[in-house]
Amino acid sequence: MSKATIQATIQRMTSAAPTPIPSLTLTRPDDWHLHVRDGDALHTVVPHSAAQFARAIIMPNLRPPVTTAAQAVAYRERIQAAIPAGMKFEPLMTLYLTDKLPPEEIRRAREAGVVAVKLYPAGATTHSDAGVTDLRKTYKTLEAMQREGLLLLLHGEVTSPEIDLFDREAVFIETQLIPLRRDFPELKIVFEHITTKEAAQYVREADRFLGATLTAHHLLYNRNALFTGGLRPHYYCLPVLKREAHRVALVEAATSGNARFFLGTDSAPHPAHLKEHATGCAGCYTGHAAIELYAEAFDAAGALNQLEAFASFNGADFYGLPRNQERITLKKESWTSPESFAFGEAELKPLRSGETLAWKLETTWSQ
Ligand code: NCD
Ligand code: ZN
Ligand code: ZN
Repeated sequence: MSKATIQATIQRMTSAAPTPIPSLTLTRPDDWHLHVRDGDALHTVVPHSAAQFARAIIMPNLRPPVTTAAQAVAYRERIQAAIPAGMKFEPLMTLYLTDKLPPEEIRRAREAGVVAVKLYPAGATTHSDAGVTDLRKTYKTLEAMQREGLLLLLHGEVTSPEIDLFDREAVFIETQLIPLRRDFPELKIVFEHITTKEAAQYVREADRFLGATLTAHHLLYNRNALFTGGLRPHYYCLPVLKREAHRVALVEAATSGNARFFLGTDSAPHPAHLKEHATGCAGCYTGHAAIELYAEAFDAAGALNQLEAFASFNGADFYGLPRNQERITLKKESWTSPESFAFGEAELKPLRSGETLAWKLETTWSQ
């Protein structure tokens, strides 16, 4: 071979070399709002979350709800039993606030390691029939929480049938949240799964006692997703997806660098046959690919550099817990999400079931 031919071959080989796959390494994240359910379902969903997150705030809306420290401890043990060997995952437990949760239970809860109490307005969402009918009935318990340092987590929607479903979060701010924060200025509150520009703005303008979680699906979709090509039950959750202007405001909040916005998937599994139903259940299952879905949303906003603070720092800082030490790596490598998972006797269809995802978590994580 002549010298010139060798040169040309080398050049061809160099230009044909695969371009490196973009990757992103970050501190292992936490999920500050997660439903894992109970029983056999735990064995499907707990391993999905444990593969990604170091810790998760476990929602207490079981049937019956988790209302005592002893129930929270027993539930934590059932979750721990479903963590695959060799994986590290810490469930952070919560109690379900009712009109009758005794203030004395708050001290017992703190001693048992419970970190927060969840407020569901009665009838607002899945398994919320035991929820609070009037905030004033809970004031003694909220005083105990403020004293003991337990956080209050809010499903922030009013439930009155006269209020349009799409306005329920904004009305909640005016009629419930503002008076509540005035009466408990030093109670740490998380406005969960915010879905509107009103909520994002309210949290941004508030003080260090108020934070908010944002789901991946509210960052990726607007309400059109519910109706594209027909009714799409797997995009139905509460609070329901809103207009595009709200989605844009949520992406702005999540990627703004403001430390009071953080990751909470609200991954909420339901049997597929109960979602594909005349009165389908509310809740999107994103737990199988949560961090990948957030990476996609941050990538689309050109803000991958903000993902680590949102996913791995801000929540821990707000809860007053140490940041994680391990790291995870994501690659921009497309893969197809499974169609479904076994879910006890039933089937669980994740969001984007059978569709392509742009980012992929490397299965190993390291110190
Ligand atoms: C949640 C569930 O299924 O438990 N559903 C939902 O649509 N988000 C409850 C909740 O977080 O409101
Ligand atoms: Zn909720
Ligand atoms: Zn939830």
